Amino acid sequence: MTGKEQGVPAVEVFPELTRDVIDRMSNAKSARLREVMEIVIRYLHAIVRESKITQGEWSQAIDFLTRAGKMCSESRQEFILLSDILGVSMLVDAVDNVAGPGISDSTVLGPFYAGHQRELAQGDSILLREEAGEPLVMSGHVTDPEGQPVADALIEVWQTAPNQMYDVQDGDQPQGHLRASFRTDAAGTYRFRTIMPVSYPIPDDGPAGQLLAAMGRHPFRPAHVHFMISAPGYRTLVTHLFFDGDEFLESDAVFGVKPSLVVRPESKGDISTVEYHFGLAREPNPGKARSPGFVAANTTGSLP
Ligand code: BEZ
Ligand code: FE
Repeated sequence: MTGKEQGVPAVEVFPELTRDVIDRMSNAKSARLREVMEIVIRYLHAIVRESKITQGEWSQAIDFLTRAGKMCSESRQEFILLSDILGVSMLVDAVDNVAGPGISDSTVLGPFYAGHQRELAQGDSILLREEAGEPLVMSGHVTDPEGQPVADALIEVWQTAPNQMYDVQDGDQPQGHLRASFRTDAAGTYRFRTIMPVSYPIPDDGPAGQLLAAMGRHPFRPAHVHFMISAPGYRTLVTHLFFDGDEFLESDAVFGVKPSLVVRPESKGDISTVEYHFGLAREPNPGKARSPGFVAANTTGSLP
């Protein structure tokens, strides 16, 4: 049946095409590529059948993806934004990350990680200029799943300025402002000074923002501080800490909030403090790359 015949339910249109496309991968260079592409083809064809996509709508979809591609540059990744706003990034995180007792929850990386930053001493400030924000001290321990300290873990942190922008988005901020790295001491302790972050809109001046608006959604993320914590023998933990009371906690544009990551700062005079302990999962195959690429390409933006 080709679908030209009358009376065929759309979900059953042209099944032999799907089989044919899948069967032509019999010489695929990688078994994993073949496995994943078979699923991709089955679901893509199912989308077209079930939604009865018209030629005009398909052209619009191609145009949308073309515009998303053209929007990408060294400093802008529209496909990460699309993955984030459609919940795909959080789903990949849920499928690929380990959870369990003594292991902290992870969340999205986001597009504003800027690579390894200057390393500061315990207790230092991550600001490179004065800001009007409320002073905040963040501290705690990094532990293994049994609660033992992880010494010399690398803690990378980054956050927005009060103007709702990261340094990498804002030519007026000194580069490296509100981001830095620290090492835990022998007791697994970390500690740094910063300011309270603010809620902010994800970049919504491109196709991802147009899609958000068309779906009737806002682009805001609740205020947060990003953490990436790595140590030999452990899985790198990519996460954030959010702040109790933020108006966007229930409607984060990228679905990144988990209850265990919401903190309530304590007020000590005019300084707020947050104490939070991070638990790292052991890396089951130390030294082995976690995600071997299955298509040859220049990979950018991948995790270390
Ligand atoms: C962020 O938190 O930096 C972010 C995450 C996803 C999309 C845009 C921004
Ligand atoms: Fe962020």
